[in-house]
Amino acid sequence: MNSLKSLKETLLLGPGPSTVSPSVYEALSTYTVGHLDPRFISIMDEIKEYLRLIYKTSNDFCMPVSGTGSAAMESCFVNMVDYQDKVLIIQNGYFGLRMENMCQRLGADITTLKFDWGKVIDLNLIEETVSKNHYDVVAVVHAETSTGVRNPIEKISKILKQDTIFIVDAVTSLGTINVEVDKWNIDAIYSCSQKGLSCPPGASPITFSSKAINKMNSRDSLIPNWYLDMKEIIKYWDGNQRVYHHTAPINMMYALYQALYDVSKEGLDNVIKRHEKVHLHLVEGLKSIGLNLLVEKEFRLPSLNAVEIPSGVNDLEIRNTLLNNYNIEIGGGLGPLAGKIWRIGLMGHSARLHNVDKVVNALKEVI
Ligand SMILES: Cc1ncc(COP(=O)(O)O)c(C=O)c1O
Repeated sequence: MNSLKSLKETLLLGPGPSTVSPSVYEALSTYTVGHLDPRFISIMDEIKEYLRLIYKTSNDFCMPVSGTGSAAMESCFVNMVDYQDKVLIIQNGYFGLRMENMCQRLGADITTLKFDWGKVIDLNLIEETVSKNHYDVVAVVHAETSTGVRNPIEKISKILKQDTIFIVDAVTSLGTINVEVDKWNIDAIYSCSQKGLSCPPGASPITFSSKAINKMNSRDSLIPNWYLDMKEIIKYWDGNQRVYHHTAPINMMYALYQALYDVSKEGLDNVIKRHEKVHLHLVEGLKSIGLNLLVEKEFRLPSLNAVEIPSGVNDLEIRNTLLNNYNIEIGGGLGPLAGKIWRIGLMGHSARLHNVDKVVNALKEVI
């Protein structure tokens, strides 16, 4: 028996992946061509253009990494963090921890500012820390998927010194809330394909500023990761004569192309407004059945809603019932929030009013 045949479509309302849109499924089954075929290269060029629009940047260096969000994340850190660089990590959730883990492997001199999970970071403390010390790199997660908190990237960027490289995780923010790479002086930023863009996982957009490119090009040491060495990969993604590095996941690039095309047709501003609207609808719906959100209103992400689990309710039992009886996936909490919250993602194609109604009605029935 072919196991694939037993899979039915599931409404993906967890922390990602989100439900893939029909246009993207269709794009995935487009004929595979060679990775150096001129027709594919022109698709790559269009992808870069679309990414500049969605990231709001004029950076030359803008491309998808072949891999999931973690590969894009690692590509920012391995290319930007040199051995013994002083790195400040602003941490208020699981993905901030992952940044620290990656920097440890690179032999960086790390300072971590830790804030409570579910709370926004304290700008005053960051300001005090950066005014007293010099950091080569400062890194923070924009949309903390583990908690549903939106961190104030623009405000952080205003505090940083000119010569610091600012790395931002936009895995859950790109295509769901505003991300302004140039205006916010971000030097290296990464995202993924499976959340706001509603593709399967596997082609993850990054962009580097000219300051970041200068840092990368002036390094004496080899970038300590062959697959993610952007000095080499750029020779495949840019220039008149493309040079083979690794075989691009061609059909995933088709999917990404289609998702970006769809965003441009709907209009990025409309996409962002849609996310806000469905989020507010969810908050209302949850309130009507007695459920509350973990995060203070001002710092809530529309794309990731952390819902407090009422006492006496079995987290896993409810999630399993939703999946098995209603065909709806929602996420559980991570780390200190495990068993305490559900994570309801409203991202990309999943971010629709009727999907909110489905999950609220299902929760009403099962709790
Ligand atoms: C904020 C954040 N950063 C990084 C990642 C890692 O991405 P991936 O799981 O696609 O490797 C995730 C995944 O959910 C995420 O939410």
